[in-house]
Amino acid sequence: MKVTVLGAAGGIGQALSLLLKTQLPAGTDLALFDIAPVTPGVAVDLSHIPTAVSVKGYGQDGLTDALQGADIVLIPAGVPRKPGMDRSDLFNMNAGIIRNLVENIADTCPKALIGIITNPVNTTVAIAAEVLKQKGVYDKNRLFGVTTLDVIRAETFVAELKGKNPAEITVPVIGGHSGTTILPLLSQVEGVEFSQEEVESLTHRIQNAGTEVVEAKAGGGSATLSMGQAAARFCFSLARAIQGEDVIEYAYVENDGGDADYFAQAVRLNKDGVVEILPYGELSAFEEKSKTDMLDGLKKDIQMGVDFVQG
Ligand code: NAD
Ligand code: LMR
Repeated sequence: MKVTVLGAAGGIGQALSLLLKTQLPAGTDLALFDIAPVTPGVAVDLSHIPTAVSVKGYGQDGLTDALQGADIVLIPAGVPRKPGMDRSDLFNMNAGIIRNLVENIADTCPKALIGIITNPVNTTVAIAAEVLKQKGVYDKNRLFGVTTLDVIRAETFVAELKGKNPAEITVPVIGGHSGTTILPLLSQVEGVEFSQEEVESLTHRIQNAGTEVVEAKAGGGSATLSMGQAAARFCFSLARAIQGEDVIEYAYVENDGGDADYFAQAVRLNKDGVVEILPYGELSAFEEKSKTDMLDGLKKDIQMGVDFVQG
């Protein structure tokens, strides 16, 4: 199996690459691409860790080689937020980066499973889909927006509030990846009860968690370490699915006839990507209203991505 990280020298890229080097199955090839000159050095650094995962770094001119034969491509390339910005403010900087990188994926490894981390995810996934369609290689089952960070945050915050072990808490998070489009389904968390006040404040904290990190980093970027962990978890799920396991994971995927053209929810995975989008079950009145209220914004975010590519 080959896993390629595009944007591998960045804050997320380095944390993610470390976790992949130490935890991917033996025999995996890890390819690290970034336009930053330090990239070959990051690969050399990681290559001294004694695991049976090979690491190779690729600079500026190495994109095609990095992508050649990739089964999984993870993309954290792009600019992060600073305090006062919304994720949508990153559109002008990151839309072109995603278009270019995905064009190269379409040309070199069109069958790869692609995980988009770059913000605004609500929009960059739609950009990637349109590029792949233009290239005639789009497969909706192979393209994912990585929303795992919302899930791990929700699990952490619920466990913290209720004095539980986070490993024993599961929280479905549906919708998109920004502000109110992030919708945790607290009514479906097993083994804990919440007051309405707790539901409202926890929901707000989960939706605002990215901003919590951006403000705490005070201009130094956004979540990188927790995102590295989240993206690694997502990648391990894809890797297990490729190896034949039946895996369920949350992701932002095309959802024909769903709430919006792209929507995050639980998906069943196999070696070809999504085999089934699982229903999210019954919502509480609060969740139903929150979903209805955010759908227009999510649809606009998606349309921006479509328009960017279709012109
Ligand atoms: P960073 O600035 O630390 O790293 C970004 C890296 O991308 C840099 O090394 C840069 O050289 C590289 N890059 C830029 N253009 C490139 C290109 N064309 N090809 C290859 N590499 C390129 O930023 P970061 O903190 O790692 O964040 C990266 C992105 O991930 C941001 O857009 C951020 O908003 C997003 N993000 C998403 C989530 C999520 O939950 N999906 C969470 C956190 C951050
Ligand atoms: C996050 O949720 O931490 C990321 O989307 C980064 C950000 O800008 O908040």
